[in-house]
Amino acid sequence: MLEPWREAQKVADNLKRFVYQRQEDSLASSLPHVLKQLPMKPTVMGMDSPHQTGDHLAYDMLTRGPHYCMTSHFTRIAPNAPVRGVHRHIGAPSLFCLTGKGWERNDGETYLFETYDLLTVPPYTVHQHGGDKEIGCVIFVPEEGRVHHIMGLIWREQHKLSEKPTFPQGTEPIYDAEGKLLGYRIKKGVLGVTKDIEVILGPEPNREAVFQARRAAGSWKGAAENTYDRYLKLMHDEADLCRNAPHVVLEKEEPWEWTAQGKLKWMVHPSMDLATKRKWIYFHEISAGSRSGRHRHVSEELALVLEGRGFDIHDGERWEWEQGDLICIPSMTAHQHFSLGSSRALLLCAMPCAYTNLGVGGIEQLEAAPEYTAP
Ligand SMILES: [Fe+2]
Ligand SMILES: [Fe+2]
Repeated sequence: MLEPWREAQKVADNLKRFVYQRQEDSLASSLPHVLKQLPMKPTVMGMDSPHQTGDHLAYDMLTRGPHYCMTSHFTRIAPNAPVRGVHRHIGAPSLFCLTGKGWERNDGETYLFETYDLLTVPPYTVHQHGGDKEIGCVIFVPEEGRVHHIMGLIWREQHKLSEKPTFPQGTEPIYDAEGKLLGYRIKKGVLGVTKDIEVILGPEPNREAVFQARRAAGSWKGAAENTYDRYLKLMHDEADLCRNAPHVVLEKEEPWEWTAQGKLKWMVHPSMDLATKRKWIYFHEISAGSRSGRHRHVSEELALVLEGRGFDIHDGERWEWEQGDLICIPSMTAHQHFSLGSSRALLLCAMPCAYTNLGVGGIEQLEAAPEYTAP
């Protein structure tokens, strides 16, 4: 079986700590900060891009960009496309509609979204996206899933394949005696596995039981009498949030704010009543020829260029970008965006906010945006 850290286990901890951190640092600093998108291709789910800076697996970090945590992928649902596959995982995704409009089914409920709206899916919710029949849609999914991997929560379940699935190289479909598709087989040899692995569609019983029990628990009744009670209540509060929180954040309903960093519109942050609030996701608009403030934070940051062109300065180094590019800002890097086009630049910025829970989520402002006047 795959044992990516087998060599590391033979070496004393106090040695490997310094060897690996030095290696990681030099690998991270060798990677580009602006990436062109990896193209979409047909998959078992539909038309999807690979993860742009590596899959959620921790083994896949520091591959294309200098990011440990953040990655992202793109999904396209063409007009009249085959119905997409259905799946579920504990990590709660946020899906941003880049173009067109569509629908999302979460545990049987349907939600509608349009261009620049954001969809949030609560943890362990069966989800499926669809596009408008006439115009379809393109979805961008910024993700911090490696946090889930190191917490042992990476498990994902395939419930249904796309109406017209494409099986990747090294796999083959599994049918029952009546010709019904049951799942697919990953063949011996892929990633060094010594026997075939069967991916059978449907829920995994233990995880299913845990989450069904949480959802069925109902609201907490009475007072929380002691510290332990607070955590008993927390499970009920979390279930209430999943039941009641909106799944769609409408772009036109959220306000623009003038801040020291520039003109921002928040779509997700930890104080919003959303089941996927463990991220910051916000628009940053920079008018033609202008610049953002300059700031620094411990969190790494991923920005998709929605409109315009320009460049970033990261700790003194210049990185050019244009529409469609992904800007990867490493942890603890002073950064500033400059717009060069004849119209506005618009970025969609995303950061994992696990940093906030570690007590290092604050932002240090080094220079204010030129249009900003402090109150
Ligand atoms: Fe998903
Ligand atoms: Fe930033």
